[in-house]
Order: sequence, then C-alpha cells, then structure tokens
Amino acid sequence: MTRSKLIAGNWKMNGLAASTAELDKIIAGSRDLPARVEVLVCPPFTLIDRFADRAERSRVAIGAQDVHAKESGAHTGCISAAMLRDAGASHVIVGHSERRTDQKESDAEVQAKAAAVIAAGLIAIVCVGETEAERDAGEATAVVGRQLAGSLPAGATAANLVVAYEPVWAIGTGRTPSTADVAEMHAFIRGRLRAQLGGEGEGVRILYGGSVKASNAAELLAVPDVDGALVGGASLTAEQFLPIGQAV
Ligand code: PGA
Repeated sequence: MTRSKLIAGNWKMNGLAASTAELDKIIAGSRDLPARVEVLVCPPFTLIDRFADRAERSRVAIGAQDVHAKESGAHTGCISAAMLRDAGASHVIVGHSERRTDQKESDAEVQAKAAAVIAAGLIAIVCVGETEAERDAGEATAVVGRQLAGSLPAGATAANLVVAYEPVWAIGTGRTPSTADVAEMHAFIRGRLRAQLGGEGEGVRILYGGSVKASNAAELLAVPDVDGALVGGASLTAEQFLPIGQAV
C-alpha cells in the first residue's frame, strides 16, 4: 500500500495578517516538491479564511488546530467544524498534547471532536504521545494504546483520519526519539489502527511530530510507517518548512 506523505505545519499561537507573505512563499515553493507530498498549513483561527483564499488552486491545504465538538450553540468563544469548513479548512488537528495539558482535554473529548470533524466532511488529525516520565517507566506504548482506544472515532477511514505520534518530550525541545523507537511506535500504532478500523487502518497516515526540521527530516521520514510529519517551530517559515517536504 502506498500512502502519500503529508507534511503538516502547526503554527500554534503564531501569525498575523502580515504572515500571508510567508504563506505565499510556502505556496510558491511547494510547486517543486515531489509529487507524493501533500502540504498542509494550520494557522490560528484568525488566519484560516485569508489563508484558504490565498491557497486556493495551490498544493497547500489549510487546516485548524482545534474545534468544538458541537455543531453550534451557546459556547462562547468556540468554533465548530462547520465554521472551519466554511472558512476553507480541510483538516483539523485534535488532541494536541498542548491542549491535552493546558485545556485538560480528555480522550473522550478528543474523540468527540474528531467525530465532529469527520461528520463535517473534514479530515481529523488525532495527536497521541507519551511524556518523558511515561517513556522512562517503559509505558510509552501502553499510554499511546490507551489514547488511541479512547480518542479514535468509530467509523473513521483512511480518507478522513490521520494520526500524529508526538512524544511530548520531543515537542519544541530539539530532541527526537531514535529511529528505532519511532519505528517501534509507528508499527504499534499501525497494528492498533488495523485492529480498530480493519482494512481502513492500513491506509491511515501516521505522522511523526516533535522537533522535526530540515536536518532530521530525511532520516525520520524514511522510517517504515512514518507517513509524514507534524511540524511546529520549523513550519513558520518557507525557508525551514519546504526542505522538510523535499526530504521525502
Ligand atoms: P515542534 O512542534 O516541531 O516545534 O517540536 C511539533 C508540534 O507540537 O506539533
């Protein structure tokens, strides 16, 4: 089975209207990327509409970093999947470890959000990953297995689900797991996807995330069952982001 590679940028709480110039550079540079590469930029909510207009008819898709599980209603300050689709988003990151920690999001909430994303016709990128203490205790796969069991929505398919494995201790730290550890975890996740989703589990892309940059991308993206990258810091400029796509 050939799965195309997805190189996704998570801009987190970064970006103002002036950042459109950087998106333009990403769009221009994406034309030279290998055919098997898909590019996604997930800016803050405030830029989705503007970025989606800009990226129309380009190779760059635009996504969101979070969503509310409900379609509409009395939820001050929240954004629904229908609103994101309306603004031009095609993908939504759910369950990022920063939200699991800062907003105390549970597996059940992440699952409800992912289900809402899929119900709206968008692609859910469900994040999982262990803390350093959990890895040191030898619990990394048990933790990720629990997160997958609790966070993946029923009825997900290869077309509407992406999983991102992001060890919490590797995010924004410049540290990455060994390729052997990445291979082991991605093989474990593939097994769980097959068990939970049957044949569809084979086609679901599994991204690696956590300190991915130009200098380590080729090595990480060559690991079996690594179907792309979720990139934070290095996705903010075309200069650092595009070489990650070139590394495929
Ligand atoms: P990083 O972030 O690439 O800056 O480590 C990755 C992420 O949090 O998605």
